[in-house]
Amino acid sequence: MRTRTNGELRIENVGENVTLLGWCSKKRNLGGLIFIDLRDRTGIAQLIVEPDNANYNKALDVKNEYVLKVTGIVVERQNKNKNIPTGDVEINVSELTILNEAENPPMLIQDQTDALEDTRMKYRYLDLRRPVMQYNLMMRHKAVIAIRNFFDEEGFIEIETPYLGKSTPEGARDFLVPSRIYPGSFYALPQSPQMYKQLLMVAGFEKYFQIAKCFRDEDLRADRQLEFTQVDVEMSFVDELDVQDITEKMLKYVWKKVLNQDIQIPFIKMDYDVAMNKYGSDKPDTRFDMFLTDMTEWASGVPFNIFQTQISLGNKVKGIIVHHGAQKYSRKEIDRLTELAKKYHANGLAWLKYEDFKFSGSFIKTLNEDLTKKLVDEFAISNEDLILIVSDKLEVCNFALGALRLQIAKEMNLIDQSKFNFLWVVNWPLFEYSEEEHRYVAAHHPFTSPKDGDENLMLTNPEQCRAKAYDIVLNGYELGGGSIRIHNQNIQAKMFKAIGLSDEEVKKQFSFFDDALKYGTPPHGGLAIGLDRLVMLITGNNNLREVIAFPKAASARCPMSDAPTSVSTKQLDELKINYNK
Ligand code: AMO
Repeated sequence: MRTRTNGELRIENVGENVTLLGWCSKKRNLGGLIFIDLRDRTGIAQLIVEPDNANYNKALDVKNEYVLKVTGIVVERQNKNKNIPTGDVEINVSELTILNEAENPPMLIQDQTDALEDTRMKYRYLDLRRPVMQYNLMMRHKAVIAIRNFFDEEGFIEIETPYLGKSTPEGARDFLVPSRIYPGSFYALPQSPQMYKQLLMVAGFEKYFQIAKCFRDEDLRADRQLEFTQVDVEMSFVDELDVQDITEKMLKYVWKKVLNQDIQIPFIKMDYDVAMNKYGSDKPDTRFDMFLTDMTEWASGVPFNIFQTQISLGNKVKGIIVHHGAQKYSRKEIDRLTELAKKYHANGLAWLKYEDFKFSGSFIKTLNEDLTKKLVDEFAISNEDLILIVSDKLEVCNFALGALRLQIAKEMNLIDQSKFNFLWVVNWPLFEYSEEEHRYVAAHHPFTSPKDGDENLMLTNPEQCRAKAYDIVLNGYELGGGSIRIHNQNIQAKMFKAIGLSDEEVKKQFSFFDDALKYGTPPHGGLAIGLDRLVMLITGNNNLREVIAFPKAASARCPMSDAPTSVSTKQLDELKINYNK
C-alpha cells in the first residue's frame, strides 16, 4: 500500500511522489494551512494541505489517531525542524484517504504522556503506539535476535521445554493448572526450566539455550513480574569459569549489536561476603562508592548504651559516611532515613554531623575529644560529612545500611546513569537459614553443587558450605544467576536431606530427576539471565513494564483484559472444582 515509510524521508527525497500510511499524531491549522504529523512505527512525516487543495475539507475532518493513506510530493520545508530526522521535508498532499476514524484517545500518545500508569495499562495498545514504547520493544527484539545468533554461532541449540509440568523449586510459589482429565491433579507452570535443562544434559545435548517463559506467583516489584522471560543456558563438561566466559561473550555481543557499545570483559568478580560487607547487598551497585565501614572497634570505646549492649551481644557497629550530607539531611530528613533503616529491621539509626569542624548528633554527649579525633582520623571524615550508624546483627547492619546507601545515592545524584557496571558475585553460601521455616533452604536452588571439599559439611555444618554458584549483577540489579550442578546422585540425596526433605517427599517430587542421575550424568552447569531486566537496563528504564508488551500492573492484574477473572460454572464443573467464596 505504501511506497515509503514516514521516518525515512530526507532532503534527498525532494521531488519524489510518495504514498504514506499511518496515524494522525497531531493536526494544526495555521492561517488556513493544515499540517498533519503522520506517524508510523519508523517516525513522523509532516503533511501539508493548502486551502485550494481538493482534499482540504477532508483534511479538516481529520482528528488525532485517524488512520490515513496519503499520496503527495516531497518538498523542502521553509521552517525546518532540527529535532526530528525528517524535519527538512514535508509532503504536499495530492490524495488523502481516511482509512479509519478514531475516538478521541484517553491519553496523549507521545513520549511525554499525561496518562497515569493505570490508564496506560488499560489502553495498552494506545500506550504502545508511543514512540518510546515502540523503541523499547524494538530493542527487545534486537536483543533477542542477537542472543539467538550468538548462541547459534557458538554451537548451542535452542530446545523448548514444557509449560505444563511439575513444580520446580526456585523459591517462589507455583502457578497451578488443574487437570480436567485427572480431577484433583495439577500441573505446575515452570518457575524456570531448571530440571528440564539438566535432563537435556543427561540426554547428551551438551550446549542448550532457550528464551523461556517462567512463572512465579510472588509479590510484584519494579523488577519482578508474575511471568517473565529468561535466557536459559546449560552446558556439559564445564566449570564455573566456562559458564562465566560464555555469558560475558554473549553480553558483549548483545551490547555491540543493540547499542553499538563495547563493554569490557572479563567482568570483575566479587566475593559474596565482600558484596555484603562493603555494599550491604548481594547485588552491589558499583557506580558509586559510599562503602559500609566497620566501626565496632571505635564504638567499643564510646560510652553509648546502645553500642555497648550490641557489642556485648557479639553484634556490630557499622556506618556509612555521606560526603556533603550534613547540610542536605536535616533532623527531619534523618528521621525519614531512620524509618527506612527500620524497614530493614534495624532498631534505630545513630548519626553524627561534622559541620564547621564540630560534631553534633544523636549520641554527641558520649563523645570526648579523643574519640572525635580518632573518628576523623580513622574514617577520613571531612567537614560537611554526615555519618549514619547502625548497631545490630551483622546482617541487619549490612541490609539496612545497604538500603540507605542506595537511597542517599539517588537523592544526592551520585549515580552516573550512563555507566554499565557488570560484575560477578561469587563464592555464595550453599544454604541460608529460613527463620520462617526453621530449617536451612538452598540459597539458590537445590541442584547447586557445593564447592569441592565442602560436601562433608553439608549435613554437619551447612552454614559453612560454599556453593559453585555465581550471580551476574548490573548496576545494582541481579541480572542473572547460575551454578555448576550436582551430577552425583549421593550428593544430590545429601542436598535434599540438608534442606529437610524426607525420602518420601523426594520420591514424590523428584523421583524422575533422581532416576536420571543414575544413568551417566555428565558434569554440567549453566545460568539464566532475566531478559526483561536486561532489556530494561539496556534501554535505561527502571520498571520491567516499560519493556514488556502486556505486563501485569503492580496489583498483579491486567487492567486491560481485567485478568484474572472468574470463570463459568461449566468450566469449574468440568475441572471438578467446587469453589465456595
Ligand atoms: P533465578 O531464580 O536467579 O535462577 O532467575 C534467573 C533470573 O531471572 C530473573 N527473574 C525475574 N525477572 C522478572 N520477574 C521475576 N519474578 C523474576 N525472577 C527471576 C532475574 C534472575 O536473575 N534456574 C535458575 C538459573 C540457573 O541456575 O541456571 C534460576 O531461575 O534476572
